[in-house]
Amino acid sequence: APAPVSALIDRLVRPIEDWPVPGVTFRDITPLLADPEALRLVVDALVDVARTTGPIDAVLGIEARGFIFAPAIALELNAGFVPIRKAGKLPSTSFTTSYDLEYGSAELEMHRDALQPGDRVLVVDDVLATGGTMLAAADLVQQAGAQVAGNIVLIEIQALGGQEKLHPVGGSALRTY
Ligand code: PRP
Repeated sequence: APAPVSALIDRLVRPIEDWPVPGVTFRDITPLLADPEALRLVVDALVDVARTTGPIDAVLGIEARGFIFAPAIALELNAGFVPIRKAGKLPSTSFTTSYDLEYGSAELEMHRDALQPGDRVLVVDDVLATGGTMLAAADLVQQAGAQVAGNIVLIEIQALGGQEKLHPVGGSALRTY
């Protein structure tokens, strides 16, 4: 990512120690979201990364903070937005997958008719940590017969090994810690 974006993330994403559970450092992006210039620069940087991925049929956002960025990227790519939600939230028939988190385990869902077989999609979230969440999204995409063309996040926590889990597609981050 361009230096100004890395610096903005360093300045405006605050680490919260031992949240939501002891031993976890939560990356709180709300100060960055509240800063109009920073929000614009970060979205522009995410769009620049997204444009390197080739033709995209849909941009998937992962609940909750993927929902902040995925629609902004989708608008710029002239693609649609598809929500990936925690279990029990989507109203229509859905694909389901379970996954392990840095803290606990959970299920993610996506509507069965959200993607067409062969679609090329981008998956967007705020943070790549263990990679469990992004991998679960990839499983939902695969269940739909579609293909993950790229995984995009603001922040990657390298030591947690998420990048390896996403091989061979990998993940693109604006800032790696
Ligand atoms: C956080 C973050 C990512 C995920 C990354 O979400 O927003 O979605 O964890 O971790 P992983 O790479 O180890 O899977 P969280 O589980 O806190 O859910 P929320 O967005 O609903 O708060």
